[in-house]
Amino acid sequence: ESTWTEIEAVDETLKDQTVLISGRIKKTCRVGKQTGFLVVEENDFTIQCVLTVAENQVSEQMVKFATGLSKESIVDIQGIVSVPGAPIRGATQQVELQVRKICAVSKAVPMLPLNIEDAARSEADIENALEAGVHLPRVTQDTRLNNRVLDLRTPANQAIFRIESEVGKLFRQHLYSAKFIEIFPPRLLSGSSEGGASVFTLDYNGRPACLAQSPQLHKQMAICANMKRVFVTGPVYRAEKSNTHRHLCEFNGLDAEMVIKKHYSEVMDLVDALFVAMFDGLNENCKKELKAVRKQYPFEPLKYLRKTLRLTFEEGIQMLKEEDGVEVDPLSDLNTEMERKLGKLVAEKYGTDFFILYKFPLAVRPFYTMPAYDNPEYSNSFDVFLRGEEIISGAQRIHDPELLTARAQELGINLETLEAYMDAFRYGTSPHGGFGVGLERVVMLFCGLDNIRKTSLFPRDPQRLTP
Ligand code: 4AD
Repeated sequence: ESTWTEIEAVDETLKDQTVLISGRIKKTCRVGKQTGFLVVEENDFTIQCVLTVAENQVSEQMVKFATGLSKESIVDIQGIVSVPGAPIRGATQQVELQVRKICAVSKAVPMLPLNIEDAARSEADIENALEAGVHLPRVTQDTRLNNRVLDLRTPANQAIFRIESEVGKLFRQHLYSAKFIEIFPPRLLSGSSEGGASVFTLDYNGRPACLAQSPQLHKQMAICANMKRVFVTGPVYRAEKSNTHRHLCEFNGLDAEMVIKKHYSEVMDLVDALFVAMFDGLNENCKKELKAVRKQYPFEPLKYLRKTLRLTFEEGIQMLKEEDGVEVDPLSDLNTEMERKLGKLVAEKYGTDFFILYKFPLAVRPFYTMPAYDNPEYSNSFDVFLRGEEIISGAQRIHDPELLTARAQELGINLETLEAYMDAFRYGTSPHGGFGVGLERVVMLFCGLDNIRKTSLFPRDPQRLTP
């Protein structure tokens, strides 16, 4: 008997052979009682399967049964490969399968709550159709997210999550090759790490606890434990109250922490090499995926320099003032609009969508951030921007326990839950620094997408806890 063949591999070389395929029904069509057609898909490859009533082929009931199967059902089909005279439109494979046997492995309900063809259409296709007088439905974000399992089947979404996987892979590969080890710190904590109110609290066997806002404290404690270079990947939790296009309540953090010899520019050097390698890797390894995303959501390829541009915060706000007339308080933070403007100015002036802004005002950074040695109103910290939005924040950390305590007190932070963390610096710790990246933001901005929910598999935002 025949063995399983991937649809991708069913081609002219298998002419007249019997093959067995497995896939998802994308289309069905019945022509009279005697003939039926199915388009079956597997891994983005599709093949046309033909049912013709004849002796030793298929029966009328079989034509009726097969063409009556609903779209998205999973079928196993045994058939003979044939090469038609004319090119086949509507399938990737240029051969047909003359069906002999068909088995419905898993039937989809006849009325899907989301039509995948509709969900896969680009805005331009909808507009063009409208101009031609055809009204095609626009699928709202809520409908997509409510039916995420179906929404994820569109080519663009399949591509987005392969790109996301690649970002994770490239991040790990680069850091392994730079002698980092991956650590797995706890996500259940006794208190907040980044300060602020954005923590999810919970009851931990009768004691107050919270979900980690970041692996910050424990990645630093790993450095205190004599691990020189560590990285962490995994979920972090922020009790965000407002709905924005770039905030989730649960996202995936890619964090690194390392001993530094002299200056926190060593951390920025790592970020620079890591992201250039990551962007190169994505462009090289994800050509097909980027094309699929672009087809539904058009975007310009990312512009980035071989050596990442670095500007000080002061230079950044100077640019905003001189070239856009925007006044920024030199000791406060940039808001979303200012970040976007600066991103635009930098892109025009330096030809890059990716740059590092460093030496932020101390007042806008978390308590553990090292003040600048030459001016304590500033700090040894940086943010990194992609298409005018923040994707990374990083800094040198305070490794002196007295200074750390003083800074926490100044900011009115509850020291009780930080005791073990503070103590870790009393046993000798090398100067160190690190950074945190939001995975979903990297993918969103690399692909020029407008909403972080598009790059989160099953997003958690202030309103959404399912699916
Ligand atoms: O800027 P954040 O809050 O920094 C930290 O957590 C530090 N402990 C990192 C460090 O090592 N210094 O978060 C880091 C990154 C942001 O730049 C952003 O990309 C992402 O995490 N991020 C979010 N992504 C999605 N939804 C949210 N609510 C996010 N908050 C931060």
